[in-house]
Amino acid sequence: MTAMVKAEGVHKSFGPAHILKGIDLEVAPREVFCLIGPSGSGKSTFLRCINHLEQINAGRLYVDGDLVGYRQKGDKLYELKDSEVALKRRDIGMVFQRFNLFPHMTALENVMEAPIQVKGEAKAVARARAERLLDRVGLSDKAKNYPSQLSGGQQQRVAIARALAMEPKLMLFDEPTSALDPELVGDVLDVMRGLAEDGMTMIVVTHEMGFAREVGDALVFMDDGVVVESGHPRDVLTNPQHDRTKSFLSKVL
Ligand SMILES: Nc1ncnc2c1ncn2[C@@H]1O[C@H](COP(=O)(O)OP(=O)(O)OP(=O)(O)O)[C@@H](O)[C@H]1O
Ligand SMILES: [Mg+2]
Repeated sequence: MTAMVKAEGVHKSFGPAHILKGIDLEVAPREVFCLIGPSGSGKSTFLRCINHLEQINAGRLYVDGDLVGYRQKGDKLYELKDSEVALKRRDIGMVFQRFNLFPHMTALENVMEAPIQVKGEAKAVARARAERLLDRVGLSDKAKNYPSQLSGGQQQRVAIARALAMEPKLMLFDEPTSALDPELVGDVLDVMRGLAEDGMTMIVVTHEMGFAREVGDALVFMDDGVVVESGHPRDVLTNPQHDRTKSFLSKVL
């Protein structure tokens, strides 16, 4: 079975700062793969490399068997053109801590926008899907609201619906609940749990250890640009093997 994401010795530097120091990991199709680690350990950078928002300096990164950002000819790598990168990026949905909805568009229009603009989809088709997706994230009654008329949690659920509208085969979540008031976190996690149940492949950077434990199939603890420890969330969270993992978990659990 082809891994949905495969990283082999991935290195990333920003100038002299060596941020990712040889990341090896594999995410299977339909897996919920949780990524935890201290601030600055490189979690967001790694996610950004997966859809080639950042170039890697060494190693190989594959999504669904395809090299990310490059084409290999013999043993040489050629960077893809922007248009080719954009085409591949369509398959990957990304949800950030801050939702970045278009402020001048309603929830429904936000969800309709990309399929129309990027895929040239007919408006009626995009609308029907957007209505379905808003229903799925529990926001049918907010379709006509503008982002400023929605709570943070509702905006984040619109952002998830917007990412799903492109029918991605992989979803990347970068701390999707960490900017939310505590009482709004649950609804967003419920939507993510539903996605997981439907078989979506997801990489989730999170501080929600309860979610990781209940929904996650795999968990990686990253520190200082390396994978320190990985395994089933229950095992890593209840029985960490490395001192760095123990020390991190003692602060967040
Ligand atoms: N564009 C950039 N230019 C220079 N340095 C960067 C850039 N992006 C990230 N970094 C640095 O890379 C390191 C890792 O950052 P990253 O955002 O990946 O960490 P993180 O694990 O996501 O942290 P957090 O939990 O705070 O979100 C940090 O030291 C950061 O300052
Ligand atoms: Mg981050």
